[in-house]
Amino acid sequence: MSGRVLRLPSFAKINLGLEVLGVRQDGYHELRTIFQTIDLRDDVEIRSGGGDVTVRCDHPGVPTGQQNLAWRAASELRRYAKRTGGVEIRITKRIPVAGGMGGGSSNAAAVLLGLDRLWRLGLGPEGLHTVARRIGADVPYFLMGGTALGLGRGDEVYPLWRQVRVHVVVADPGRPISTAAVFGRVDRSLTPRENSNRIFRFISRDLEGKGTAFPILANDLEEAALEEAPDLAEQVRRIRGILVREGAVSASLSGSGSSFFGLFDDLQRARRAHADLAAEGFSAYRGRTLSLDQYRSLWRRALGPQGRRPR
Ligand code: C5P
Repeated sequence: MSGRVLRLPSFAKINLGLEVLGVRQDGYHELRTIFQTIDLRDDVEIRSGGGDVTVRCDHPGVPTGQQNLAWRAASELRRYAKRTGGVEIRITKRIPVAGGMGGGSSNAAAVLLGLDRLWRLGLGPEGLHTVARRIGADVPYFLMGGTALGLGRGDEVYPLWRQVRVHVVVADPGRPISTAAVFGRVDRSLTPRENSNRIFRFISRDLEGKGTAFPILANDLEEAALEEAPDLAEQVRRIRGILVREGAVSASLSGSGSSFFGLFDDLQRARRAHADLAAEGFSAYRGRTLSLDQYRSLWRRALGPQGRRPR
């Protein structure tokens, strides 16, 4: 297949906190979360040409057909923009698969931004939002990146004034978990409750200039994820133990799991936590958070001078 090629970064996210507020009419859950991009990335290469949408991935656990969110992104955008041309998508995976780090959603957003550029649609992140939310609840966030508040299904995203800049260590227990199954378990334990306001407290402390308040954040999906995958409980206990012992300011499951992350103010501590996790046999990653500005400029560079950029 010949045609123009774009090589794009596709970053992972973690949830600095996640509150499940209730079940919506559409069956989804009403969420309040703080999304954060980190510099762990997949590579997505898109090449225009031919008549079909095809996906190849170097990871055997990633579906390449209709279940692949990048495939759906290309197909949906093609329909939306009334295009007939094909596209070949190649994904090099580093983000844990079904690990709660938004890898599939991030790949889908990368395809949307890339095809917008290749096909010269001029939609930009705002114009792509409608298509993005059809593909998955996390996809709109990846059109923006950085530290952002997610409301509704998680698809209403607002950048936060103070962008979190810390070191991140992620342990991947290598155990995929179905997000739908975890949310299904939440329902059984969900009682109509007062909003806990932990996320709003976090944001208002931030606005008052009192610095970040990671300890008040928690992930409401953690209990359900461990019910869904009881074999993980012991590993999570060990991972959390290492992160806390090395001085993590926060240690939490990401999304519906099973990736587990720690945040560190201090590089040496992050390095030690990473080394300890590796020594205990965990697949681990150490990196940094990506702010809104960093995310934007990395995208600007990838899309080229005339590229529309994430808002
Ligand atoms: O939107 P996405 O396909 O990524 O979500 C995967 C599954 O997670 C959904 O099918 C739904 O069961 C569940 N989910 C939910 N509430 C949300 C987001 C996801 O129940 N806000």
